[in-house]
Amino acid sequence: MSSFPVTRLRRLRRTSGLRDLVRETRLDLDDFVMPLFVGPEALANDDLPGLARHSVESLGAEADELVRLGVKAVILFGIPEEKDDEGSGAWDEDGIVQRALRELSGRELVLITDVCLCEYTSHGHCGVLKGEEIDNDATLELLARTAVSHVEAGADVVAPSDMMDGRVGAIREELPDTPIIAYSAKYASAFYGPFREAAESAPAFGDRRGYQMDPANVREALRECEQDVAEGADVLMIKPALPYLDVIRAARERFDLPLAAYNVSGEYAMVKAAAAEGFLDERQAALESLTAIKRAGADFVISYWTKELADWL
Ligand code: PBG
Repeated sequence: MSSFPVTRLRRLRRTSGLRDLVRETRLDLDDFVMPLFVGPEALANDDLPGLARHSVESLGAEADELVRLGVKAVILFGIPEEKDDEGSGAWDEDGIVQRALRELSGRELVLITDVCLCEYTSHGHCGVLKGEEIDNDATLELLARTAVSHVEAGADVVAPSDMMDGRVGAIREELPDTPIIAYSAKYASAFYGPFREAAESAPAFGDRRGYQMDPANVREALRECEQDVAEGADVLMIKPALPYLDVIRAARERFDLPLAAYNVSGEYAMVKAAAAEGFLDERQAALESLTAIKRAGADFVISYWTKELADWL
């Protein structure tokens, strides 16, 4: 290999035309999924517009706008009117997400649903309780029931995010033809704060460390991915994204399935807050972050910037 002064790496950085030619990673709106929150009433969020809440009625207009902007996919989260111990609102035929799905049907939009109980349980945990413990196996059937109800209401893809062992298999058994995006490596992260506020899904006691992954582990993430592949997942997902780029890279190298990453609410909020303080330029920081997530190996990204990206790209 030649070295300086024969090699001068700056030659290809001289103009934007040259930089465009040799760019290795590009952002394309096709590779982004916009999260949408739907609840009994719309609720604006001035600081974090990506976490605004829509009503079933206002959701249609929002979806139309997204389609017009070129957004291809959304992931739906529901905030029910009432919660109970089991989270029965999650699989209610007339539940909030089921109604939203029926409202959205017929549009050129891939409809993904988050399958979890935490927004629907009065205790805010992602599974049913046995004492103070989350009962893994008893939760599986409820998650599968939820996924089936989503598909019956029009979901194209289901994405289980609860982190119970065996949930992908339980859903796959009921839904042989539905794509499953598995939140395979979902870490017990401090970066979900703004989401939990928006979705009213913070646990009433304890935390999620008994089922979500320890942030210190990467080999374990690969074992989670392996299990999900064996159980019939179509897409693996790593979440959060930015603090876990090494995990994205490791999963990319090991598995041939499409790989997704969730650029979570706290990652979005950090940049929004810093930009509001004048510490950084939001657009530059967001584009750089999303490029890094793709460079690490994600094929597509769930991001609260998806709507703004449509303008930026
Ligand atoms: C539901 C769920 C959560 C997120 C996505 N699905 C919250 C959690 O696990 O506490 C977080 C997404 C975000 O922070 O943007 N279990």
